[in-house]
Amino acid sequence: MFFLYSAYARSYQWILRVLARFVSYPEHRLLEGEGSSLRLVGELSSRGYVRPLFVLSDSVHRSGADAPLLDGLKEKGIEPTLYVLPSGEPGFDTANACYLEMKRANCDAIVAIGGGSAMDVAKSAGVIFAYKGKDIASFRGLLKVHRKLPFMAFVPTTAGTGSEITPVAVLSLPHGEGKVAIMSPRLTPSLAVLDPVYLKSLPERPAVYGILDALTHALESFLNRPKDSQVARDAIAATRTILEKGRLFAQNRNDLSLNLEMLKASYLAGRAFARGYVGYSHALSHAIGGRYHLPHGYLNAVLLPYVLRAYGSKAYPALARLEEAIGGSNDLSMAKKAEAFIARVNSLERDLHIDQKLPLPSFGEEAASSLAHEAAKEANPLYHVPKILSEEELALILKSAVTSV
Ligand SMILES: [Fe+2]
Repeated sequence: MFFLYSAYARSYQWILRVLARFVSYPEHRLLEGEGSSLRLVGELSSRGYVRPLFVLSDSVHRSGADAPLLDGLKEKGIEPTLYVLPSGEPGFDTANACYLEMKRANCDAIVAIGGGSAMDVAKSAGVIFAYKGKDIASFRGLLKVHRKLPFMAFVPTTAGTGSEITPVAVLSLPHGEGKVAIMSPRLTPSLAVLDPVYLKSLPERPAVYGILDALTHALESFLNRPKDSQVARDAIAATRTILEKGRLFAQNRNDLSLNLEMLKASYLAGRAFARGYVGYSHALSHAIGGRYHLPHGYLNAVLLPYVLRAYGSKAYPALARLEEAIGGSNDLSMAKKAEAFIARVNSLERDLHIDQKLPLPSFGEEAASSLAHEAAKEANPLYHVPKILSEEELALILKSAVTSV
């Protein structure tokens, strides 16, 4: 019976790939380098924006890192309205509160400076604004946003989500019911600004979880089938940087050129999954994260090795290609190359002190099947994964990966 479902899912994905050829993405530009965020003053003023909404993560605003940019704007006669993100994972209420602030101040553009949450809220507020206050819940899922969003410039302060390039916003549902994604090319930000200065104050654990989230973006998009050459190039470049320099970045965020390399890797991994989608690590991570409020990158890091194992030989060709691309031995069989690549990922995770098991309170049969149900709902039939897994198989992954505490 599941064979029939798999055939349906593959047909659905094939139709989606055909339709994707006709989808146009909004214009997107990239600024990068030390102090590049200060160029936002000129970017906004040259476009005639005078009342931008600034969505700021609390830590960025408290640190004062945004002060030079805000001062520069005021000198140019641009009056920013600040929305500082409340603590916790953002949901529909936060997105709506941000929109109301934007509407109250009659803002004409959006700038986000922060991690994934700040950018998710900024995109969501932009959607509500474009639809004049319509309930954000009605846009969940694929291709529900058709109107042009305000000009959006995003400055990531972690190297992980890649949200500064992706057409996706993720929000939490109330009462720990999981997370939902809003996916539409319209959500692609107009401008991404990779300024390594903002990463200097990033603590060690968020830095580690961020780069492992980016690695999961790169690997899941690369494993998905079939992919275009741009997705493959972006995913390989991001994977190489993270595997080679992730350990160094975890130890030190004072090296601005290294910070920029990791920001660029996260950006490329984001661009890869914007076209190539993610896989079951993300689907499971969203389900668990929404209920247990654990960091997204941490969950992906723990789950990724289990998901790679569950794909089995179906993932070998792509994993072997990655192993070759990052300089592994050419003299091995495909299976051995794939295993060598998985060993590289496991070695990085070990060195970065990622647990092999996920401790969740009172985790049992019921939790495994309901989380697997949510993950299957997100991933099937949408994600072009190398092997389509049933709810039962996803529950088995959870039972192997989770330890009840
Ligand atoms: Fe992610």
